Amino acid sequence: MNIQKNVSLKAFNTLNLDVLASNYVQIHSQQDVVDALAYAQAENLNVLILSGGSNMLLPKTIQALVMHMNIQGIELLSENETSQTLKVGAGQIWHDFVLWTTTQKLYGLQNLALIPGLVGAAPVQNIGAYGVEAGEFIESVEVYDRQQQQFKLIATEDCHFSYRHSIFKDDPNRYVIVAVIFKLLKQADLKINYGDLKTAMQDDLSAENLQNQVIRIRQSKLPDPKEFPNVGSFFKNPIIDQAKLLKLSMEFPNIPHYPQANEQVKIAAGWLIDQTGWKGKRLQQVGMFEKQALVLVNYADATLDDVQATYHAVQHDVYNKFNVLLEPEPVLFNTFGLIQPHLGK
Ligand code: EPU
Repeated sequence: MNIQKNVSLKAFNTLNLDVLASNYVQIHSQQDVVDALAYAQAENLNVLILSGGSNMLLPKTIQALVMHMNIQGIELLSENETSQTLKVGAGQIWHDFVLWTTTQKLYGLQNLALIPGLVGAAPVQNIGAYGVEAGEFIESVEVYDRQQQQFKLIATEDCHFSYRHSIFKDDPNRYVIVAVIFKLLKQADLKINYGDLKTAMQDDLSAENLQNQVIRIRQSKLPDPKEFPNVGSFFKNPIIDQAKLLKLSMEFPNIPHYPQANEQVKIAAGWLIDQTGWKGKRLQQVGMFEKQALVLVNYADATLDDVQATYHAVQHDVYNKFNVLLEPEPVLFNTFGLIQPHLGK
């Protein structure tokens, strides 16, 4: 294990924020996890788990031990007539894993192609796109439980997956995810009812084409982080009750909304932001993307303060117009490596 001092995290967060970490270590194995945690305890440092860096907001300096997850490997655990169960290292690149499953004729994850980040982060916010959530195909998650000081498997029903949520969000300092166990299907059961996916598929109803169409649609509206540093959707789609929707619809009859369980409805944050005039608008070097108002972009050397100035302004304008508070999707860290609540509107 090689602990490094004063390491820049600029290349390791997709928003490209200039961040200096006092202590940094690459994690390649379960033993590295144990050793790194012991080091942090001995040095009295908090631990910040860094995965693909595509869903985090980091301050200029971090006084903590940054554990950069790089555990590799895909292992076949079991197989039957209809499915294969695979254990996948937390450090595998998500998109590459999805492409690989398709070449192996294993189905389920094709709708989730091109989502940035690593496999180990997928269960944390239960990544989702085009009508599928990762949790539907996760059988269990292998973690190091810092409270019980042991490795263990958490079964999918105990992960409490819901929209962009899981137990890993409720209890962010307890678990280090080392692998994810997926159960994938040998026969495709295509989910193509989301948005314009069905039309895009035309006559080719194969999982390969589904994956290609998802990639094409994403590339047409979402900025490439290499060109326009971003963290994907910056805000969650708000979930409101029917009474509030009714009230909003009287003034804004076109508001896009999708029914949820328990009489709730999800409304489109991108649309709300667009309506306030923020699509393609910037405050200094941070703005909302011109083709998708839900994505915040760092156009040049922004710091966390710049990012916050812009998203607070967006929250403020959306709140004033619609009386809806947008909740940021990425996780905000303080200078001691701890997760912070987002403030403001
Ligand atoms: N809209 C606008 N203006 C905009 C953007 C969107 O009017 O600038 C409208 C659209 O016309 C549409 C609605 O808002 O009626 C929803 O837009 P879209 O389908 O583009 O985005 P979304 O459904 O809100 C979610 C996820 C994405 C995921 C897509 C596809 C969230 C917060 N975002 O976006 O996830 O790829 O669905 O399933 O749930 C991510 O989390 O990083 C992410 C990209």
